[in-house]
Amino acid sequence: MASFPIINLAQLNTEERPAIMEQIKDACENWGFFELVDHGISIELMDTVEKLTKDHYKKCMEQRFKEMVAAKGLDAVQTEINDLDWESTFFLKHLPVSNISEIPDLEDHYRKVMKEFAMELEKLAENLLDLLCENLGLEKGYLKKPFSGSKGPNFGTKVSNYPPCPKPDLIKGLRAHTDAGGIILLFQDDKVSGLQLLKDDKWVDVPPMRHSIVVNIGDQLEVITNGKYKSVLHRVIAQTDGNRMSLASFYNPGSDAVIFPAPALVEKEAEENKHKYPKFVFEDYMKLYAGLKFQAKEPRFEAMKTMESPVNSSPIATV
Ligand SMILES: [Fe+2]
Repeated sequence: MASFPIINLAQLNTEERPAIMEQIKDACENWGFFELVDHGISIELMDTVEKLTKDHYKKCMEQRFKEMVAAKGLDAVQTEINDLDWESTFFLKHLPVSNISEIPDLEDHYRKVMKEFAMELEKLAENLLDLLCENLGLEKGYLKKPFSGSKGPNFGTKVSNYPPCPKPDLIKGLRAHTDAGGIILLFQDDKVSGLQLLKDDKWVDVPPMRHSIVVNIGDQLEVITNGKYKSVLHRVIAQTDGNRMSLASFYNPGSDAVIFPAPALVEKEAEENKHKYPKFVFEDYMKLYAGLKFQAKEPRFEAMKTMESPVNSSPIATV
């Protein structure tokens, strides 16, 4: 099997550009995941984000997690647990409106650094969408446009820690799922591994690498590209040693954005592939996803198809 795609983004500015674009294309078509090095986000900023995130976990989250584990008796389970994950998380919303000032327990410096980090990630996500457009033969800005809705994209960061787990075979760090949104940028721990994706029916490790950003495709990009790029199942295996930090930033459509396959891509498809994906309002998809995250995506797409008529139909005539 080919090895997990690691792509040096700085080489886009060199004569290596065609080869790098090809690597991105291959990763999007065949992996749904890739890892970026030399992506333009400063190493100093990433180091500060990591230190502050780990400090915050120690100071404010660790004790709470231990109490939850004790209250639920999770360290002594004997059978597989399928309804929760061995993770400690909180969510920072950046766009359209930031919630960072409302999250309790964060130090001001941490809030400021996370805002700066989010701005860098937003730029990177938008640059990546344009690179994807180029590879797909879509005009520049095409993928960004459907993400806008009336208030711009939804963009947020799930800050997670996966503490050492005594029974990783019985409790997953995070159960297998595909991501609902658009494009996801992950800053993961460089020492404690655990993220795996499903490729050709086998779980493959996403290698921890210092200062890299792991990118993956969400369900919305699968719909817009008419399945040319697919969201891929992934999971986190908790480790018996070491605490794993994971900062997953989701660049998603605006809540009222209407999502549908790009006509330019549908046109090129054979007839049987022209109607594979539904048209829907993003927040309707998210309502469905909330209850079905850990199930296969195909029934979600089918369910959205059955809800399609309100989006497509003309207003009902009234007298
Ligand atoms: Fe995910």
